[in-house]
Amino acid sequence: MPDFLDTKKRLPNLGIGLGLRRELATETLESESRIDWLELVPENYMGLGGACRERLESARNKFPLVTHGINLSIGSTDDLNSEYLSKLKKLLDLIDAPWFSDHLCFTSCDGIYMHDLLPLPRSKEAIKLIAEKVKRVQETIGRPFLLENISYYMNVPGCEMNDSQFLAEVAEKADCGLLLDVNNVYVNSLNHGFDPYQYLDQIPLERTVQIHVAGHKQGSEYVIDTHGSAVVEPVFELLQYVLERVEAKGVMLERDQNFPEFEEILLEVDRIRAISDAAAQVRHSGMPPRAASAIKQFERKAAPAGRKDLAEVKHARVLSA
Ligand SMILES: [Fe+2]
Repeated sequence: MPDFLDTKKRLPNLGIGLGLRRELATETLESESRIDWLELVPENYMGLGGACRERLESARNKFPLVTHGINLSIGSTDDLNSEYLSKLKKLLDLIDAPWFSDHLCFTSCDGIYMHDLLPLPRSKEAIKLIAEKVKRVQETIGRPFLLENISYYMNVPGCEMNDSQFLAEVAEKADCGLLLDVNNVYVNSLNHGFDPYQYLDQIPLERTVQIHVAGHKQGSEYVIDTHGSAVVEPVFELLQYVLERVEAKGVMLERDQNFPEFEEILLEVDRIRAISDAAAQVRHSGMPPRAASAIKQFERKAAPAGRKDLAEVKHARVLSA
């Protein structure tokens, strides 16, 4: 496998996409004029027939498709699940996905799948394990692989570094791409009291192939990554900050629950497109991108300081990151 940054150069620019969700499938599949591509959860389609297969066929005939998996469990001490990888490869070959992704987390232990995206001990040992597994995954599947930064609500024991250092080291050692979720960066910055712009400055943004944009909600104690609300301005600001610095090959909206009128979703897709176009102009103009200090500060000031050691998980993260 060649160096990932060379691989990225050869990837198609898909434009602005949306997550394919069963509840929105009819409207989504009729919106080719507003949506460029779709992301699907492979576990919902691997080896399945009936309505799932029909939806997949319709989507495949109209849109470029990529997958965003849940059960690779790249950070687990379990070995890679060869049956899962085989089914995933078949699906990726069927839809001819230009890349595929999963989360930097673990979802299984001793072969038991927990249906949640669980944070890892951010250690050198974990980095070595994950990098080795990512290389095997890329070799087995034969397509570029991206890891997504998750939202997390506790720092598990054994952390030797912060989340940005961990993500950076995993990506560099594994030589893979990033699926950067700017909402997750924002939610984590509020829950754990760090500067989201500093986080972005500390990760290898040039490895970003795909970006997730989503909404969240304020819980009683924590900000919860729900994908069930409108995207807030500070998340759009983070998106612009990233795209003024690097090109992504696909940016998309994740909306998984509490669905509004479909036009509202399309308007958010339009907004992402406008930001992407404006940022591309900055990149191509040769002008310096905006510094973080030049971006509105009002939401960043709202971040509670120093919430770094949450003792327990107050919210079981739904499988939607
Ligand atoms: Fe995400």
